[in-house]
Amino acid sequence: MTQDELKRAVGEAAAEYIRPYLEDDSIIGVGTGSTANCFIDALAQHKHLFDGAVASSEASAQRLKDHGIPVYNLNSVSNLDFYIDGADEINEHLEMIKGGGAALTREKIVAAVAREFVCVADESKLVERMGTFPLPVEVIPMARSYVAREIVKLGGDPVWREGVITDNAGHILDVHNLDIPSAIAMEEKLNQITGVITNGLFALRPANVLLLGTQDGVRTIKAS
Ligand code: A5P
Repeated sequence: MTQDELKRAVGEAAAEYIRPYLEDDSIIGVGTGSTANCFIDALAQHKHLFDGAVASSEASAQRLKDHGIPVYNLNSVSNLDFYIDGADEINEHLEMIKGGGAALTREKIVAAVAREFVCVADESKLVERMGTFPLPVEVIPMARSYVAREIVKLGGDPVWREGVITDNAGHILDVHNLDIPSAIAMEEKLNQITGVITNGLFALRPANVLLLGTQDGVRTIKAS
């Protein structure tokens, strides 16, 4: 199977995973990226079973609307049973690096509200140690150089993702060569730098379950 076929398989598996829990008033948290898009397309087949969705990006909101799925503002929603999203890297503890699509802040916010985070990923995303994928950090634009200097002190090599403005009007620094022995500790350290909006480590709130697309089928993995 190609990587795209694996993404489609996990997108469909995620729609099946949540289907038994869907009720007339259910609102689903929906992530961003090519794998999340596969989930949106699969979810659309069940749109008569639930109320609507909250999206972690304008792009996902548009895709949901194109399928005729109502999109709600998170401020009008108090409970989300599920948040379904992809990852750039995920480890056995279901800690992730996210933000390759620059949507990390809204992803982290919607994930914080959800009771269960279901990560959907093809097998290339599962890693033993995180940090090969450059870690995205969203910053207030005027703080970009200051934050970059602070990240250098932590041992990383930040590179400005020039031309990218996030949905929150932030800038993105992609941090290369960062040693991440503890994802939780690094997430907390980066959060402490003034001017950082969000960093792409999802360790304080990891996924609850990973649906991993492999050549032998979709594996369901719970945090170890
Ligand atoms: C978006 O900002 C990211 O966090 C995505 O979830 C991540 O980049 C995975 O994207 P793909 O499913 O396109 O690989």
